Amino acid sequence: MDNTKRNFDEEAARWDLNPARVKLASEIGRAILGEIPLTPDKDVLDFGCGTGLLTLALQPYVRSITGVDSSRGMLDVLNRKISERNLTNVITRYVNLDQGDVLSGAFHLTVSSMTLHHIRDVGPLLKQFRRILNPFGCLCIADLDEEGGRFHASNEGVFHFGFDRQKLAGQFEEAGFQNVRTVQAASVEKPAAGGMQTYTVFLTIGMK
Ligand SMILES: C[S@@+](CC[C@H](N)C(=O)[O-])C[C@H]1O[C@@H](n2cnc3c(N)ncnc32)[C@H](O)[C@@H]1O
Repeated sequence: MDNTKRNFDEEAARWDLNPARVKLASEIGRAILGEIPLTPDKDVLDFGCGTGLLTLALQPYVRSITGVDSSRGMLDVLNRKISERNLTNVITRYVNLDQGDVLSGAFHLTVSSMTLHHIRDVGPLLKQFRRILNPFGCLCIADLDEEGGRFHASNEGVFHFGFDRQKLAGQFEEAGFQNVRTVQAASVEKPAAGGMQTYTVFLTIGMK
């Protein structure tokens, strides 16, 4: 694991050019839509929204969706999409937990895709997620199953080589979430020595 923070600003302009990333976000979006009834009276937060691949997949179904990220470069790309598409229900917010920023607002659903493994200390963030949820609000986190450090070409800024589903569910419960369950959300194929390697992505869901 590499404690150096990865520079997502530098990657932002080319982020969506990787078809595997676009496909993964789309599969995660479909998994969330299959598990959580989204309606036009719902306010959603997407933590670690990046260029908004998941944000914009959920946007048509909800009243508002707020994309939060600590990379201004990523948020610039999302802001450009918002203005090109004239979207009025997508909000972006710069939040840097490492500088002491905290999450704020009130949401019916918080989602996060492929960001948790970049967070050093998951427990306090889960508590923040719970604090900003309305009563009976939901948290949906999609991330890698344990991958042994092989998923990323560089493990810069990667604090977890995926997650053990049971341990993460336990952390959800410690943070106060109820009815915690995990489903399979997606899979990613990557070239590896001797062939292709499949990495699986879970979706853990908890209710306030
Ligand atoms: C692997 S990318 C995933 C982006 C997007 N969710 C997707 O699926 O394409 C991780 C994102 O989390 C953001 N991130 C990393 N650490 C963060 C933190 N401490 N607070 C907020 N965002 C963070 C990065 O800037 C980056 O945009």
